[in-house]
Amino acid sequence: MKNIAIFASGNGTNLQAIVDNIACGRLKVRCALVVSDRKDAHALKRARKAGIEALYLDPKAFGSKEAYEKQILLHLKKRKVDFVVLAGFMRILSPVFVKAYKNKILNIHPALLPAFKGGESIKDAFCYGVKLTGVTVHFVDEKVDHGPIIAQVLVEVLDSDSCEDLEARVHQAEHKIYTEAIRRVALGRYVVRGRKVSFLK
Ligand code: GRF
Repeated sequence: MKNIAIFASGNGTNLQAIVDNIACGRLKVRCALVVSDRKDAHALKRARKAGIEALYLDPKAFGSKEAYEKQILLHLKKRKVDFVVLAGFMRILSPVFVKAYKNKILNIHPALLPAFKGGESIKDAFCYGVKLTGVTVHFVDEKVDHGPIIAQVLVEVLDSDSCEDLEARVHQAEHKIYTEAIRRVALGRYVVRGRKVSFLK
């Protein structure tokens, strides 16, 4: 079974969905570690409640971004982590980290990339007046919200939607698609050629 580590800075609803899907056997991976850069991240509490080792590492305690990430890498190595799953981790990973886990770091973004990159994508899509938005799961590369796309799902914007309504449905969609994407990647039957991720039958 593959080992994953989940990195989260915030509430951790995606983390919770993944952990729940592991617990009920829908997702056959082991979550070896949860890492957060925020001491008060609710995600850490969720992890500990589920009996998963949860590690807070303060970026300010390290001399540089690289030193911080090298420390995280040591923790991952120690626990034989195969894949890193970013779930609302509010730090941009440096090339040092990205190279160490090339095409093995997954991120979820609450819009259909390459549209609406950045931290306010649900609001941005809503204000833009799109009729369709969605969720993207992608491998992480050196650029932000950019790496090869693993999976996407559409979310319709209804005329009656408030931004909060849309946000709730996007999050629901995230919770489903992330587990499915991790499941497929953990099976290992895929190839990445340039930007294209193909899953083998
Ligand atoms: C999600 O919307 C995810 O797409 C984005 O950060 C948010 C994290 O939410 N990358 P949560 O902490 O999982 O609830």
